Amino acid sequence: VTTPYYDEDGITIYHGNCFDVLHELSDLGAVITDPPYSSGGQFRGDRVRSTVAKYVQTGTIVARQEFSGDNRDARSYLAWCSLWLAAAHKAAQTGAFCALFTDWRQLPVTTDAMQAGGWVWRGIGVWDKTEAARPQARLCAQSEYIVWGTNGPNDLAAYLPGVVRCPSPRGDDKLHIAQKPVDLLGWLVSACKEGETVLDPFMGVGTTLVAAKLLGRRAIGIEIEERYCEMAAKRLAQSVLRFEPTRAPAPEQIEMPRDDEAAS
Ligand SMILES: C[S@@+](CC[C@H](N)C(=O)[O-])C[C@H]1O[C@@H](n2cnc3c(N)ncnc32)[C@H](O)[C@@H]1O
Repeated sequence: VTTPYYDEDGITIYHGNCFDVLHELSDLGAVITDPPYSSGGQFRGDRVRSTVAKYVQTGTIVARQEFSGDNRDARSYLAWCSLWLAAAHKAAQTGAFCALFTDWRQLPVTTDAMQAGGWVWRGIGVWDKTEAARPQARLCAQSEYIVWGTNGPNDLAAYLPGVVRCPSPRGDDKLHIAQKPVDLLGWLVSACKEGETVLDPFMGVGTTLVAAKLLGRRAIGIEIEERYCEMAAKRLAQSVLRFEPTRAPAPEQIEMPRDDEAAS
């Protein structure tokens, strides 16, 4: 059995390959994660470049570190995601929530992988990264996507927005090249049942765990690179205040358009 790298206040970190740890876990209430996208380019050859070269805006000067597992082609990305999603599915309770980050290039393969792993695919959330996102001629690549589903029934009466708008972390707040904002993960953690454990098998510097801690939830993170486990543990050890992310109104509180007013 893997010994935790960090274990405080209901938050546990394992340093290792998630395939070695997943089979030791059970009873998960949710899997929320941002796996290496194996993306970052228009062409096959672009995928195998270093993560720093792929994911830093042209002309930006940074001293950030590489991360692992980001150079599979589309077919092997599908196979690899299906395998870890199946292992996570086995460790999850009936009704558990699963949410995976992806970008526009890997969106089709990610929805296939979720279903191949045994989850019921139920929709796509949108992270609007604002106009501060990576510029691109014609339409700015301003969004990333959250492919979500459940292990069987979708039995939680939580009504959350389908789109969240917040910029990527910048400057000293950014410890990992692919780090997500805490508010964004707070939105997804709010879609899990209270009292249940959230797993992030590709935790990076632990943003999912920080959001879970802020919301008073239990969480487990797994990360293959020790330097990121160390950074995550430091973030978690800092004192935190609880926060309430935005909730959408329940359907009965929404005034629906009449049929003749509804847009087609
Ligand atoms: C996209 S990053 C996650 C960033 C995270 N959302 C954050 O805000 O810090 C994916 C992480 O997965 C890690 N990783 C890659 N393969 C792994 C594996 N097999 N098991 C565990 N972690 C892995 C990488 O080292 C990387 O830090």
